[in-house]
Amino acid sequence: MTLIDIITASVWLMLPAYTANPMAAVFGGGTPMDLGRNFYDGRRILGNGKTIKGLLAGTACGLLMGVIQMGLAPRLAASDVLTGWPVFQSTLSAYSISTILVVGLMALGSLLGDSAESFIKRRLNLERGAMFPVADQLDFVLGAWALTFIFASVWFKTYFTFWIIVTVLVITPLLHLMANLLGYMIKVKKEPW
Ligand code: CTP
Ligand code: MG
Repeated sequence: MTLIDIITASVWLMLPAYTANPMAAVFGGGTPMDLGRNFYDGRRILGNGKTIKGLLAGTACGLLMGVIQMGLAPRLAASDVLTGWPVFQSTLSAYSISTILVVGLMALGSLLGDSAESFIKRRLNLERGAMFPVADQLDFVLGAWALTFIFASVWFKTYFTFWIIVTVLVITPLLHLMANLLGYMIKVKKEPW
């Protein structure tokens, strides 16, 4: 496998997770997930930046992306890693249903990871939107991995090999910074990070 193969496979595998977060920012708003409640320390549990609509819409969009990927997979022969990528079949087999669940876990996990980071930020008395380097860029990756590792460990171990994990950890912060700059420019995000 060449470096390009590994990068392609890494982005492909992470795409449902990469989709969920920006879509939460596009479609989010309204009732916060913590319902406005405070934690024992008197500060918000998660804050107004984590909303129910964002969680649901982000997960749905990530899931949709995963299903589109399953449809595209047969036409993609870009990488060895992608050969054998579960394919969306017209007759929903147990195989493709489990893959739909997996991409859903990636999407949901990424938003839960993002919420977990907000929880930690609030405990550290950081305001909504405050910069929290490294965690801001990798919270959703760890969330997506945690959920798939717990509920789809065979799938996780099959696709997230050592070098894929290393590559994801390197390219995600770069992609994240680029995406957030774009989100800031089109005024979906309030801060450029
Ligand atoms: N968003 C949402 N629901 C979520 C996640 C995100 O509505 N579950 C929206 C919010 O409008 C949020 C924006 O996406 O402001 C950007 O997300 P993020 O940068 O993660 O939130 P912050 O506003 O920076 O808040 P925090 O400090 O808690 O990370
Ligand atoms: Mg933020």
